[in-house]
Amino acid sequence: MWTTIFLAFAGTVTLSAAQSSTASGTALAGTGAWASAYTKANAALAKLSNSEKVGIVTGIGWEKGPCVGNVAAVSSINFPSLCLQDSPLGVRYATGVTAFPAGIQAGATWDISLMNQRGAALGAESKALGVNVQLGPVAGPLGKSPEAGRNWEGFGSDPYLSGIAMQQTITGMQASGVQACAKHYIGNEQELNRNTMSSNIDDRTMHELYLWPFADSIAANVASIMCSYNKLNETYSCENLQSINLLKKELGFQGFVLSDWAAQHTTTGSANAGMDMAQPGDNFGDGNFLWGQNLLSAISSGTVPQSRLDDMVRRVLASWYLVGQDSGYPQVSFSSWNGNGGPNVQGTHKTVARAIARDGIVLLKNVNSSLPLKKPTSLAIIGQDSIVNPSGPNACTDRGCDTGTLAEGWGSGTAQFPYLVAPYDAISTQAATDGTKIVTSNTDSTSAGASAASAAATAIVFINADSGEGYITVEGVAGDRNNLDPWHSGNQLVAAVAAVNKATVVVIHSVGPLILESILAQPNVVAVVWAGIPGQESGNGLVDVLYGSTSPSGKLPYTIAKSASDYGSEPVSGDDSYPEGLYIDYRHFDHANIAPRYEFGFGLSYTNFTYSALTLPSPPASGSLTFSSLYESAGTVTATIKNTGGVTGAEVAQLYIGLPSSAPASPPRQLRGFDKLSLTPGSSGTASFTLRKKDLGYWNVATQQWVIPKGAFSVYVGASSRDLRLTGTLNVS
Ligand code: NOJ
Repeated sequence: MWTTIFLAFAGTVTLSAAQSSTASGTALAGTGAWASAYTKANAALAKLSNSEKVGIVTGIGWEKGPCVGNVAAVSSINFPSLCLQDSPLGVRYATGVTAFPAGIQAGATWDISLMNQRGAALGAESKALGVNVQLGPVAGPLGKSPEAGRNWEGFGSDPYLSGIAMQQTITGMQASGVQACAKHYIGNEQELNRNTMSSNIDDRTMHELYLWPFADSIAANVASIMCSYNKLNETYSCENLQSINLLKKELGFQGFVLSDWAAQHTTTGSANAGMDMAQPGDNFGDGNFLWGQNLLSAISSGTVPQSRLDDMVRRVLASWYLVGQDSGYPQVSFSSWNGNGGPNVQGTHKTVARAIARDGIVLLKNVNSSLPLKKPTSLAIIGQDSIVNPSGPNACTDRGCDTGTLAEGWGSGTAQFPYLVAPYDAISTQAATDGTKIVTSNTDSTSAGASAASAAATAIVFINADSGEGYITVEGVAGDRNNLDPWHSGNQLVAAVAAVNKATVVVIHSVGPLILESILAQPNVVAVVWAGIPGQESGNGLVDVLYGSTSPSGKLPYTIAKSASDYGSEPVSGDDSYPEGLYIDYRHFDHANIAPRYEFGFGLSYTNFTYSALTLPSPPASGSLTFSSLYESAGTVTATIKNTGGVTGAEVAQLYIGLPSSAPASPPRQLRGFDKLSLTPGSSGTASFTLRKKDLGYWNVATQQWVIPKGAFSVYVGASSRDLRLTGTLNVS
């Protein structure tokens, strides 16, 4: 079934190797923002020999240059040895950089300005260190399975939220002068067997879920996209003409597709499928280059057309010109390998890091306004997650351990902490000001925790759950989590504390959802604070919320279920046929009528908000959409939000749309807008959601087009995916 559908994507059923350079979208002249970059790239291309061209598209080999990826320089066109460097949350291996909150924390803020500022700051630090291509942000995994090891690198389990976050991050990064890289394309939804498994995704699901945030990235002029390790529909992602054609032909991507590290499998297959750059060149230092001389030979023998090589180089050069890196770019001033961490480039970025650590905190439970804390006389701080790893925050390579407070997951998506403010550090500073007596137990021992808790009026118990990239195994977790329980017997620690302390506050640092039933069953647990994956400013952001200098305003970027089996998707050991289709995360819970514990979009505040005065735009016309019209406005929905409580706070108002019955079976509601408003007590503001045409569409598999169906669209504006305060109907004829 798949083959038929998928071949139809490209609109071309059979493509010989020789035809495929055209198939992969040979653009001789760029359009839009790319036009002048393509003019320059074509002029430069004309001066290059084939061996220079091959050098530009072939990594020089693992650990052969200062960055995790490097290509050959060409002095005649002033083209440098491009530096490609991880990670999506900070410049990996450099020491004078900011360790920002992870993508998932930025997603939990639902704050487009903070997403943009984070991207801009990441880009500025990359540029200052001479990084040309920053290997982020992450739209895959999208998080269909809550256990998947790298979900925290991305922005949450909804394509709309992820797409907006991708756009904002990319726009911020590229405005700072660095080329962004949207990764991992596509179906990279688990670590288990990622190098051999196939993600078999049907056409509609592909378009409406997994491709969606990459489409938004292309609309934001992302310079590069990384093809992933896994197969898609039985063909390796970096050798997959059909999936690369989705980017280049269907979506008009004008930048370059680079391989994930050693995700390339053949010389001609990858070239003719449309891959544009091989990284790191060889297979992690084995000296076996599939491109380089082999690509040169393939060009000479005609198995890869000259036009395909020219297309690769044109795309790489155009991306370099697009962000202005031809006009004076810093030299690389650090090394990933020899201990030279480079200069301090942090500037004032800790401010944005703290704001995201703080505004991504989701308050899940708060009985009788137990929080914010009001100068307690005594406070117990309990759990190993309250302090920095005694061996230092960077003691474990690529953060591959769960010792001390959790502020990054593990793997290539990490950066060195310049410092890490742990919860204990920041709370004890505040306690000194307040005259609060602190009692501590900084291990996960239940008996020590209980004894500290019994000596204080209020107890804060810290627990966590970690995950990461599969090349490191931590405490028996080989990337993907084995379950959705807290690590280190966190449930038992909470129970021991709550048994003796009537005002127990639970703070959780977690890469993704946990099953909280055991914790919530403890009557003395008066508050639960979901502190996410906060980066270097962890404790400071937490204190801002715990003590109420800022009201919590984060909302869950995924569903927290009552039972792990409620999710309906988990990492699998063989190929994954994506049987859940469109129904991931809240789409599944809504469709299958399963009550979550805390739904997607949920989060409490220290104040209250009311919703009123829904206005709807005049409806757009029904019918098929051309690709160039997908991002055109389909009108604006508005609602009035009023802060009716006693303190200033920010509310994330969310717009969900249900498609009319004339559309094929679809999730009951899908996020199609959000707006975060900061309001003083008593004041009102207008939440405004501008719909794009594609936001009202579904992907028609038969016609290979987006279609706005006829009929009554349900419009919901609310405080979460289930707390829908205002409803209306948009009648499309
Ligand atoms: C593999 C990871 O999947 C990717 O995210 C990263 O950018 C490369 N390694 C380079 O470290």
